Amino acid sequence: MQEDFQSILDSIWKEAKKQKVTGEVADYIPELSNIEASKFGMTIIDNNQNRFNIGDSKENFSVQSIAKVLALSMAMSMVGEKLWKRVGVEPSGDPFNHLSLLEMENGIPRNPLINAGAIVVCDVLVSKLEDPKSAFLEYVRDISNDQTISYDEDVAKSEKKTGFRNYAAANLIKSFGNLENDVERVLDFYFHSCSLSMSCEQLVKVFYIFMNRGKCIRDNVYLTLSQVKRINAIMLTCGFYDEAGEFAFEVGLPGKSGVGGGIVALLPDKFCVATWSPALNKKGNSQLGMWALEKLTTDTGLSIF
Ligand code: DON
Repeated sequence: MQEDFQSILDSIWKEAKKQKVTGEVADYIPELSNIEASKFGMTIIDNNQNRFNIGDSKENFSVQSIAKVLALSMAMSMVGEKLWKRVGVEPSGDPFNHLSLLEMENGIPRNPLINAGAIVVCDVLVSKLEDPKSAFLEYVRDISNDQTISYDEDVAKSEKKTGFRNYAAANLIKSFGNLENDVERVLDFYFHSCSLSMSCEQLVKVFYIFMNRGKCIRDNVYLTLSQVKRINAIMLTCGFYDEAGEFAFEVGLPGKSGVGGGIVALLPDKFCVATWSPALNKKGNSQLGMWALEKLTTDTGLSIF
């Protein structure tokens, strides 16, 4: 039976308006602090590529850490299992920019979705690609069939100016011999990847590939079944940092958040959903986005469990 996703979204919209949002917009990247906290959008794409929208779902925002899944997916299709020699697959239970575990574990980041892990993944891509920024953007545009997706240079610059913890992580990784390229070059690529600007509508097109067993929205195969299984497993266990357990408990879907207020999640073979609400809870995840996704999976009974 096909779900009536539009009615479900409409009822989420009605109730969302009544929610008390106490979270705060991220300001450690100055450019992100200008975003209106009251924005809220949501898009669902189903397995027939029908799209359903509410609110500010066509407005662009900074995807931030959501891009880590895309860098991971590109690196996996380029280097395969070798990647796991340089980055682990265990949840960290720590905030996204935590450093002490990295020191204790000899510069091998716990997983590819914390900052340190994504920096290693970016290093892998920098080693493999002549122009990683262009190639990554092309990859994202190809899998979504959307040539309008771009970096936001102001956000990338802003993050570079205040990216002290990422510089610390990259230097620590380098000191353990787990970074092949210059710290500056790798971080320039990392900051650009996080600065990708997309709407909820675009995000579900990009992440369709992980819902559709490695076949993108144009029906081209980019990932093997086993690679998609691994990426979705990592999203489920590591996609929300020290709130990954809470997200699995409340929502029950693999997903990924970003400090721009976006969350994307998916139910394999059924649908992919993106939410955007910039006010973040204490763990750096969108407060209203998490609420909306909990309501979606509870009301429909559609989760992986
Ligand atoms: O490196 C950073 O801190 C940001 N570019 C990304 C952090 C982020 O989105 C964490 N996710 N909730």
